[in-house]
Amino acid sequence: MKLSKRISSFQASPIRRLVPFSNEAAEKGIHVYHLNIGQPDIQTPPQVIEAIRRYDHNIIAYGQSEGDKDLRKALPAYYRRYNIEVTEDDIMITTGGSEAIQFVFMTLCDPGDEVIVPEPYYTNVGSFAKGAGVVLKSVTSSFDDAFRLPDIGEFESHVNERTRAIMLCSPNNPTGHVYTEKELHDILQLAKERDIFLIVDEVYREFCYDGEAFLSALTLTGYQDRIIVVDSFSKRYSMCGARIGTLVTKNREVLDGVMKLAQARLCPPEIEQIAALAALQTPSSYLDEVQVEYQKRRDYLVKRLQTMEGVSCSHPKGAFYLVARLPVDDAEDFCTFLLRDFSYRDETVMLAPAEGFYVTGGMGKNEVRIAYVLNIDDLERAMDCLENALEQYTRRTNSN
Ligand SMILES: Cc1ncc(COP(=O)(O)O)c(C=O)c1O
Repeated sequence: MKLSKRISSFQASPIRRLVPFSNEAAEKGIHVYHLNIGQPDIQTPPQVIEAIRRYDHNIIAYGQSEGDKDLRKALPAYYRRYNIEVTEDDIMITTGGSEAIQFVFMTLCDPGDEVIVPEPYYTNVGSFAKGAGVVLKSVTSSFDDAFRLPDIGEFESHVNERTRAIMLCSPNNPTGHVYTEKELHDILQLAKERDIFLIVDEVYREFCYDGEAFLSALTLTGYQDRIIVVDSFSKRYSMCGARIGTLVTKNREVLDGVMKLAQARLCPPEIEQIAALAALQTPSSYLDEVQVEYQKRRDYLVKRLQTMEGVSCSHPKGAFYLVARLPVDDAEDFCTFLLRDFSYRDETVMLAPAEGFYVTGGMGKNEVRIAYVLNIDDLERAMDCLENALEQYTRRTNSN
């Protein structure tokens, strides 16, 4: 029997493909600090859990394909906090931001059409693109240039008759870069000139540091019909498993297209939408405290990495990831070593090799993505593991 050529062209996610090794380590009694994945240890707001407990229907029925009315009606007030003026009709509830990305690709692109994306990028976008037959064209934002967006001319040089969109993620996973008004403006101007869309993934909107203000692309006037925002409750309210996201656009044609896909998958998760509605009532102090906590973790992580010999790292301004360059030739081999051949105080750490976060083959080979999703005590122990492992690995490599 044969499987599709498409599926064999997919990569196993660099965020999760070392999981069998971390499971083996756990079976040996080794505690693994998971800094490979954006699963925060932050408490979900209690009223979210309460809302799920209070669920008292006798049948868990299908809901509306575009999402429950109450949730869609409540969202514009949330977006207004960021000066984003939208109505419930501009919002589609999706099964996580992940589904919103898939819907956008399927709606905008035919197989062979192109989307331009700065790399490193959120690696799962690569799989969603492949699923829709979309070809990703990358412009490289470089480690040595603090992952700033490349010059607009670089984007322009990639636009051709097959280009349907530019896709950004701000605050960025994995680099932590937060796009400036000028960067967004230049990209939107190019999109307008070449009549293509801008897809912006804003799922980390709340998490900006050092007083950096977040600016949504949707607040820039004159471009509204070509902007599609991907959004999610997952990280904001630490409810990743609830699988609730949104797709926001003022473009009716896009929403009508997306609706056909939404109808085919019937509806987003029903009980979790009730939980998401409760999440919107969370006092703003919750998000303020979480933001302060992540900034502390970022500061700690950057400080620790900077003291490790041969290690350099990006200085993220947002989200909760950074890219670190390690004194190794092959970060995937090192990450495997961490899980299979190493422990310190019966503990180890799991990181995501960064190569898979680049579209261009061979880039990021000595880089890892680190998610600072654990509290500072855990981060400290995880960094002790990393520091020791680098010493051991280097000794081992040099003696071979
Ligand atoms: C940039 C980005 N977009 C989208 C997602 C998907 O989130 P969700 O859990 O809403 O599907 C993630 C998850 O890590 C992400 O980092």
